[in-house]
Amino acid sequence: MGHWRGLLELLYLVLLGWTLVRGQAETDLKLDKEGVEVEDPSGTVKNVELQISCPEKCSCSGEGAVDCNGVSLTEFPQDLSEETRQLSLQNNQITEVTLEHLSRLQQLETLNLQNNRLTTQGLDDEGFHILERLSYLYLANNKLTTAPRHLPPSLVSADFAANQLTKIFPNTFGQKPALKSVYLHNNKLTDAGLPENMFNGSDNLEILIMSSNFLRYVPKGLPTALFRLHLKLTTAPRHLPPSLVSADFAANQLTKIFPNTFGQKPALKSVYLHNNKLTDAGLPENMFNGSDNLEILIMSSNFLRYVPKGLPTALFRLHLKNNKLEKIPAGAFDNLFHLRELYLQNNFLSNDGMDNETFSQLNSLEYLDLSNNNLSTVPLGLPRNLILLHLEKNSIQSITVNALTPIRNLEYLLLHNNRLRSRSIHPAAFQGLKRLHTVHMYNNLLERVPRGLPRRAKTLMLLHNLISEIGRNDLIMLYTLTELNLSYNRLTSAKLHREAFRKLRILETLDLSGNKLQTLPLGLPKSLQVLKVKDNQMVEIPEGALMGMSSLRELYLTNNQLKLNSIYQGAWQELSTLTTLDLSGNMLSHIPSDLPESLEFLHLQNNRISSISATAFLNTPNIKSIFLRFNRLSVHSVSEESFSHLSKLQVLDIGHGNISPNRGKAGEQVEEVEEELPYAEEEEKHS
Ligand SMILES: *[C@@H]1O[C@H](CO)[C@@H](O)[C@H](O)[C@H]1NC(C)=O
Ligand SMILES: *[C@@H]1O[C@H](CO)[C@@H](O)[C@H](O)[C@H]1NC(C)=O
Ligand SMILES: *[C@@H]1O[C@H](CO)[C@@H](O)[C@H](O)[C@H]1NC(C)=O
Ligand SMILES: *[C@@H]1O[C@H](CO)[C@@H](O)[C@H](O)[C@H]1NC(C)=O
Ligand SMILES: *[C@@H]1O[C@H](CO)[C@@H](O)[C@H](O)[C@H]1NC(C)=O
Repeated sequence: MGHWRGLLELLYLVLLGWTLVRGQAETDLKLDKEGVEVEDPSGTVKNVELQISCPEKCSCSGEGAVDCNGVSLTEFPQDLSEETRQLSLQNNQITEVTLEHLSRLQQLETLNLQNNRLTTQGLDDEGFHILERLSYLYLANNKLTTAPRHLPPSLVSADFAANQLTKIFPNTFGQKPALKSVYLHNNKLTDAGLPENMFNGSDNLEILIMSSNFLRYVPKGLPTALFRLHLKLTTAPRHLPPSLVSADFAANQLTKIFPNTFGQKPALKSVYLHNNKLTDAGLPENMFNGSDNLEILIMSSNFLRYVPKGLPTALFRLHLKNNKLEKIPAGAFDNLFHLRELYLQNNFLSNDGMDNETFSQLNSLEYLDLSNNNLSTVPLGLPRNLILLHLEKNSIQSITVNALTPIRNLEYLLLHNNRLRSRSIHPAAFQGLKRLHTVHMYNNLLERVPRGLPRRAKTLMLLHNLISEIGRNDLIMLYTLTELNLSYNRLTSAKLHREAFRKLRILETLDLSGNKLQTLPLGLPKSLQVLKVKDNQMVEIPEGALMGMSSLRELYLTNNQLKLNSIYQGAWQELSTLTTLDLSGNMLSHIPSDLPESLEFLHLQNNRISSISATAFLNTPNIKSIFLRFNRLSVHSVSEESFSHLSKLQVLDIGHGNISPNRGKAGEQVEEVEEELPYAEEEEKHS
């Protein structure tokens, strides 16, 4: 236990993926290459070095670096300088390294033999021991089955990853006071293949990576300096020291936790157990007994069916998403007075798995995620201090009168992708929720705008429902609304009351796209800045429909059946701040007249425009882009002067393929490649 106490005082078991681990190894190497200065500036040595021949196919620097990386060597190079400090032999086919090879290289500091064909038989056990300055040894990606018995005490970093090691000896990594990092992942190590105390006398080890082996237990006697340990464990350690502050066992294969793994740890603050294989049966009765200060517990992505019982009162954040939770046992959350965030999404929780007291003690809870479960109604007794409530992706069909009203601080309510019908939302369901400003109810089965929506709502997402009618008073209480999205419903002009919007005096964005409107509605709010009515069946913009809309910046009327003569005279002229007008996909035969002076982007593609007069853009000097492709234009039907005065024009997209000399033959439209005419350049001459 003594070892453990020391070890884990600072131990922060961070479990990183293979790539990151590899990254670390590479960083070490790079540091090494760049960081080693020439310590002997006495010119003479250098001169001597320069005279010594460099092995064939390799490159050598005057500073003792020999680079034979990937030059198809099958043998250790013979004629190396005695002054060699860094030797790069990685990515070759070397099978043997003998004492004789190494005996001359007394100055060697870095030896890189990664990715060769070395076997244990081919690696002289005594060889490395004589390299008294060796600090960095890279042997990853070879075929070693046992580690060298002795490595030099000067060693700082050793990489044996991706070999077939089954055995480590006491002096492989023991008695190395300078040793900082050891990489042993992707080997075949078992608990029995490790020496009793494999880092005895190597007290400065900081990084040990041993994942992807066959270990069942944490090796004993790990050095106290260790701060990163990566193991793939199936069983958690039976005992961890009482001094433990944080433990990260994420992304292992744990199936079992013992009472003293995390119990009796008064200093323990955070435990990370996500991405394991824990089931309810694998947890001890009271896994945090005597660990009363735990604040963060992450157990997402396991196989739990029940919320663990007896969680510590200090808990602040609890993650249990992506499990198989069906039930929250009575009292599971009763003592969690400090819990602020609770993540329960992607489980199988149904209303049967909880009751009106399940959450009622969570007085500090501000964030609750119950999305993607199996709820059929909004649970009763939700915590009253919630700010954000996720209930989307359930099968919620109803909201009763008292489910939400006690949550006085609620600001965001996400109810999209459920099965809500208007009549099963109680008219008083949102009463008194004065802070609730964002409600998402898209993808439900609403036939009407629900009665009694929150009065302070700013954003209301009602798209993708079955709303077919908006009556005179359906929106009457929503006067704080700035964004209303009613797209992809079943609205017809006949059932959209012309006074329905009268109270929405500060509405800025309205989306009515994807309905069945035959005419642009009258009585839209004059405060609108963005109006979308795409994908409807509009044949008319009736007199006055756009009257007084002096704030409107963007208007999208794409994909309707509008003709020029079905748009009332002067319609566009009223829109004095309009910058974007999208009339593409309609039945216009000419460029609309009376376009506002403010216009910058005009979309008219996919209409029936067959000619452009010289005066078409006379009133729109600010225009930057005009899109006209897929019309019926021909070379002769476009007047050259039409665009010549437009000094700000950057994009004129006519799709020249369909400007055919045969005027007006619509049938000859050619599919053409995207193309933008850079008019601006030409226009500069004019201005
Ligand atoms: C650790 O090393 C010391 C010498 O430094 C030795 O006396 C002791 O027996 C070693 N302990 C183990 C468990 O190997
Ligand atoms: C909790 O720990 C105490 C000792 O601190 C012990 O007496 C008790 O039996 C433990 N309870 C459980 C459920 O493990
Ligand atoms: C829960 O419901 C029961 C009746 O079904 C009631 O007696 C109890 O007071 C309720 N608890 C809360 C916290 O509302
Ligand atoms: C969802 O809940 C219903 C009862 O409310 C139950 O019949 C059904 O099996 C549950 N589905 C899943 C996937 O748990
Ligand atoms: C309405 O919601 C849809 C889907 O999220 C979105 O694509 C559209 O832009 C929204 N409308 C507006 C005006 O923001």
